[in-house]
Amino acid sequence: MSDQPTQDGGLTPVQTLEQGLAEVESSFVQAFEQTTTEPELRAANAQILGPQGQLTSLMKLMRDVPGDRRKEFGQRSNGIKKAVQSAFEDALASMVKAERARELAETPWDVTLPGRGAVAGRLHPITRVRHELLDLFSSLGFEAASGPEIELHENNFAKLGFPDDHPAADMQDSFFIQKPDGDHDPGVILRAHTSTVQVRTMLARKPPLAIVAPGVVYRRDDDATHSPMFNQLEGLVVDENISFGDLKGVLTLFGQRLFGPEVPVRFRPSYFPFVEPGGEVDYGCVFCRPWEGDEARTAGCNICKGTGWLEILGCGMVHPVVFENVGYDPERWKGFAFGLGLDRIAMIKYGIPNIKLMFENDVRFLSGF
Ligand code: FA5
Repeated sequence: MSDQPTQDGGLTPVQTLEQGLAEVESSFVQAFEQTTTEPELRAANAQILGPQGQLTSLMKLMRDVPGDRRKEFGQRSNGIKKAVQSAFEDALASMVKAERARELAETPWDVTLPGRGAVAGRLHPITRVRHELLDLFSSLGFEAASGPEIELHENNFAKLGFPDDHPAADMQDSFFIQKPDGDHDPGVILRAHTSTVQVRTMLARKPPLAIVAPGVVYRRDDDATHSPMFNQLEGLVVDENISFGDLKGVLTLFGQRLFGPEVPVRFRPSYFPFVEPGGEVDYGCVFCRPWEGDEARTAGCNICKGTGWLEILGCGMVHPVVFENVGYDPERWKGFAFGLGLDRIAMIKYGIPNIKLMFENDVRFLSGF
């Protein structure tokens, strides 16, 4: 095709191209400089390089340029295109940088926004019960004591008067510890009750003493009210002239402080190898309150299962054999001990239907207390 003027007397394609390229070349820097926002800059770029842009349209004329000049115009228009692209990118980068600098120079917060309240944490129900009981017993003159969770089998059983292989040990089906070589050490277990702290305290100290020992214990036990890992609180008092009357007095006061002064207390005989006599203590059900005389309410109570009583703890007078095992003279020293489940108290106090809920760490449950 020749570079002839158009029929209407206008410019030839070569002339149009020459003029157009010169115009783009001389104006794009200024066009970009005149923009002040990113959308404006992008629009100015589109006017040159966009599908309908000035340079794009000019490049379409290339097919009408005579063959011997195509290379020259091709190189020129590509050179201009690259110059426009790089000017656009530089302008965009400095615009973004300036915007960022402006943001950083501004006040970094908006004091007029409404505040976001901090979500306060809270203590776990078992921790709260533990604190409450420690406060209660410390007000009665007890000291806090503790012992390890990984314990000698002997402290859990033999020292507490469990005869070897006695069926009473089955009540506390224990977990053994696996050694690195894969064998289990029959002498070491996860303690199955906090009564081990009685042994450790008496081995370490001379009487008189009054301690309470909260702690985690482990048994092979698993249902809605029993967990393989749970919490107990042990109590031990040793002195001269301690009688069953002292035990009854302390545990009656304990129940009244925990559940209310009107709550009735019941002592039932029971067997634990380390006490004699041994018993269990029940307190009147604080949900159906049978002492108020509404029999139908008690019959339908699913907390005490219609009995009117909550079984809360085991207790008894320290067995003379235990005193002998720790080197105390059983003729001189007398004492009483008790043990209760902190998880059970928390379940009663907060109406928690399944013990597992307390160990799943689900905030929807935990934030309800
Ligand atoms: C004992 O563990 C005795 N050491 C208590 C004791 C101490 C008696 C001192 C006499 C003198 P028992 O096995 O009943 O007793 O457990 C005491 C409490 O622990 C129970 O009343 C119950 O509330 C709680 N408990 C027992 N097993 C579980 C379990 N698997 N999950 C949650 N709580 C449990």
